[in-house]
Order: sequence, then structure tokens, then C-alpha cells
Amino acid sequence: AVAAAVVPAAGRGERLGPGAPKALRELGGVPLLVHAVRALARSRAVGLVVVAAPADGVAEVVGLLDSHGLDGKDIRVVAGGATRQESVRLGLAAIPAEVEIVLVHDAARPLVPVEVVDAVAAAVRAGAEAVVPAVPLADTVKRVEPNRGGPEPVLDTPDRSTLRAVQTPQGFRRETLAEVHEKALTEEAAGGLPPVTDDAGLVERFGGRVVVVPGHEEAFKVTRPLDLVLAEAVLARRRA
Ligand code: CTP
Ligand code: MG
Repeated sequence: AVAAAVVPAAGRGERLGPGAPKALRELGGVPLLVHAVRALARSRAVGLVVVAAPADGVAEVVGLLDSHGLDGKDIRVVAGGATRQESVRLGLAAIPAEVEIVLVHDAARPLVPVEVVDAVAAAVRAGAEAVVPAVPLADTVKRVEPNRGGPEPVLDTPDRSTLRAVQTPQGFRRETLAEVHEKALTEEAAGGLPPVTDDAGLVERFGGRVVVVPGHEEAFKVTRPLDLVLAEAVLARRRA
């Protein structure tokens, strides 16, 4: 079964600083989104890519994908939403009903190796309902009592060997992903749940089983300016 991929790309990129929406910012002269879509399209496991673009930028994104030689692929562009979760839900709604496996991949992870895409899709094909690629943490992590700008009392230190930093693409049985997004929408309407920052988190919230497969250090998310510096260096090394 061939998978479809949803690429949430409708964020503003506040933490990256002023400029165009993050997905349209360039890395090696090519928009982050184009890198991300290429990385997915390179995988034989992926037959369709649905991009959730900034709501006022759908035509621009269509043009961008065409001008970077992606017009031969099966790529659709829909308007994204006000939150990442909403963008994913809108992208998911544009996937044909017969598609059984869906990957969700951040436009902000332009350098994910195709091996990670393949491994995630393969794990879903092998029977997992939700799969996330992840890597061990370099830093020790502490839970604190948040106190913006001021000293923050430490509550405890989770055992680092049991922690993983989670990446994308995350892979799902389509039914599972659609169901948890539907439930999240209903519960939100009923009165505020704490936000979830990834799709697998929704599966966990509603009692599903999520498994981790090895991610890759180059699948890091471009979030702050330093990440763009690192991404440029990784790209230059690949091109060398
Ligand atoms: N995203 C989206 N729709 C939103 C918000 C985020 O599709 N309303 C996407 C982003 O475009 C990005 C991915 O979700 O590809 C991961 O989010 P993040 O790294 O937080 O990107 P931004 O929200 O754009 O950045 P920031 O939080 O710094 O504003
Ligand atoms: Mg964000």
C-alpha cells in the first residue's frame, strides 16, 4: 500500500524571526518546503503529498512547487489553519479515502533522509498504528516550575536514558489519525484541552499505542536562526 504525506507548512515561524513564513524561507536558495516535499517524494513509499500552505499563500506555494520541478509529482496544496493541528486536519481531509497509510511531516524539517521516511512507512505497513522517529537526547532534562525570566525551581530530573527527542515524518494508519483528530476537535469544542505538539501525542491522549523507530540527526527542525546556520552547513556538506 502506498502512503500519502501531509506537510503542515502554514506556520509563521515566529521563533525564526522576522521575514517570510518559515516554510518559504530559503536554504541553499530553495524554500524549506520544497526541500521537505522533495525528501518525501524521493521515497518509493509515498505516492501523494498534500501541503497545508499559509491560507493566503496557496497560489504562491503552487507556483513555487512547479518552479522547482515538482509539477510532475502527485502534489496537492490546500489552505492550512490557525494551529499545526488544524493544518494537519485540513491536509488529511484532502487525501483520497482509499489511502490507508498517512505520514505527517513538518515543512520545517527540510533535510530528513529518505531512509527515515522509508523506515516510518515500513513500520506502519508492518502493523503499527502510530510510529514516530526519534533520537536520544544529548542534554540532561529537568522539569521546572515555570517562571519566565526568573529563577525556576527544579522539580525533578527524568532518567535521560528513557527520553527521546521526537521528529517527523510520523506515520499512522489513516483511520487512527483521522479518528484522533476528530476527537480532539470535539473535545476542544467542549472546552479547552492542553495543546498537543505532535500528532502521535493525540494518539496517546486517546489511548492508542505509539512506537518509536530510529530518527536521524539531520531530521532536526529549523526553529531558531542557529538551526538555519546548521542546515546550510549540512546542505553544503551533502553537495560537496
Ligand atoms: N504549522 C502549520 N500551521 C500552523 C502552525 C504551524 O502548518 N498554524 C507547521 C509549520 O509550518 C511547521 C510545522 O507546523 O512546518 C512545525 O511547527 P513550528 O516549527 O512550530 O513552525 P511555526 O509554527 O511556523 O514556527 P513558530 O512556532 O516559531 O512560529
Ligand atoms: Mg509553531
